[in-house]
Amino acid sequence: MTLFDVYPLNNITITKALGSYVWDDKGTQYLDIYGGHAVISIGHTNPHWVKRIEEQLHNIAFYSNSVIIPIQQQLAAKLGKVSGKEDYRLFLVNSGAEANENALKLASFHTGRKKIVAFEKAFHGRTSLAVAVTDNPKIVAPVNETDNVTFLPLNDEAALQNYFQEHGKETAAVIIEGIQGVGGINVAGESFLQLIRSLCNDYGAVYIADSVQCGYGRSGKFFSHDFGGVNADIYTMAKGMGNGFPVGGMLIAPHIQPKHGMLGTTFGGNHLACAAALAVLEVIEQDSLMKMAEENGTYLINSLKEIEGIQNVRGRGLMIGFDVTEELQDLRKILLNKQHIFTGEAKPNVIRLLPAMNISREQIETFLNTLKETIAEINNTKPVEA
Ligand SMILES: Cc1ncc(COP(=O)(O)O)c(C=O)c1O
Repeated sequence: MTLFDVYPLNNITITKALGSYVWDDKGTQYLDIYGGHAVISIGHTNPHWVKRIEEQLHNIAFYSNSVIIPIQQQLAAKLGKVSGKEDYRLFLVNSGAEANENALKLASFHTGRKKIVAFEKAFHGRTSLAVAVTDNPKIVAPVNETDNVTFLPLNDEAALQNYFQEHGKETAAVIIEGIQGVGGINVAGESFLQLIRSLCNDYGAVYIADSVQCGYGRSGKFFSHDFGGVNADIYTMAKGMGNGFPVGGMLIAPHIQPKHGMLGTTFGGNHLACAAALAVLEVIEQDSLMKMAEENGTYLINSLKEIEGIQNVRGRGLMIGFDVTEELQDLRKILLNKQHIFTGEAKPNVIRLLPAMNISREQIETFLNTLKETIAEINNTKPVEA
């Protein structure tokens, strides 16, 4: 049997990882500024995380949600404390798409409505409703097409107000990333998030904060939506939550009531996933990783702004993007294959930086110096115009 070939692959086999480094099967070391797609929050194979999962594995890895699983409650309590949303309730799932799928479904159950507002360039996942609110027709199958979703331009307050004036009373939810990831690191403005809150209040719609990529402390705040200074009704989370162990979740505001059977999952909230997620929060708390992300992120953003050849440096904390010019279109590939540094991309010309929240200042300096050298080299090898 062979694999169903849907991923364009780099010709690299990673066999070992520690902190912000990974090694291939030939022993070559790579600096990971991509965090395995924003998943690595507390560093690869973090010792506390390994120990907690290992210990849990010796007791029990899984039992279904038909029995009391105390570690779920421990996770909820810790999550409430670290996120500051102590009066919210937690529903555990396995991935970002599943979190958004359930958030949209819950908003529809709660309001009895069908219409959803999403934003241009949004990415929310690949399951049925999650992909329907994702602004990429190439990944929407005919069966996922629906008239219930309207895409509006991000940060266009007039467009949002006009939409609500016309359709507010039929609208179940507004779903928004605090910082668009796949769309190229586009920050939702603070007043835009405040407007979403007030329109959702006025019309009885649900504000869903997709924090799958931008959440879990990466921005310097636990949820990047918190920069708006208003609460969402539902926060969805995944990537950084398990530091590579598959786990996702939703934080649900107290006014949204659960009913038995309303939502469900076999694997969501299993003992092992909860142990991994607890370990992540313990490390974030003990090592003050949100502060570290904020400080190192500001340093990285300011340093990038000084580098000639890269443009529009943007983002918050350790979720950063910049544009590269036509001449530098191979920069990412050269960084990877020659300099052994992983970075992320967003089409057509954006480089995305999503390192672990505890990447060191020294590793950041190595990245910045290598970036400068590589840009200079590309510029020097450019054919001189006659
Ligand atoms: C903002 C956002 N939401 C949802 C998802 C989907 O998450 P998953 O791949 O875990 O289903 C992603 C994945 O990249 C994402 O970036």
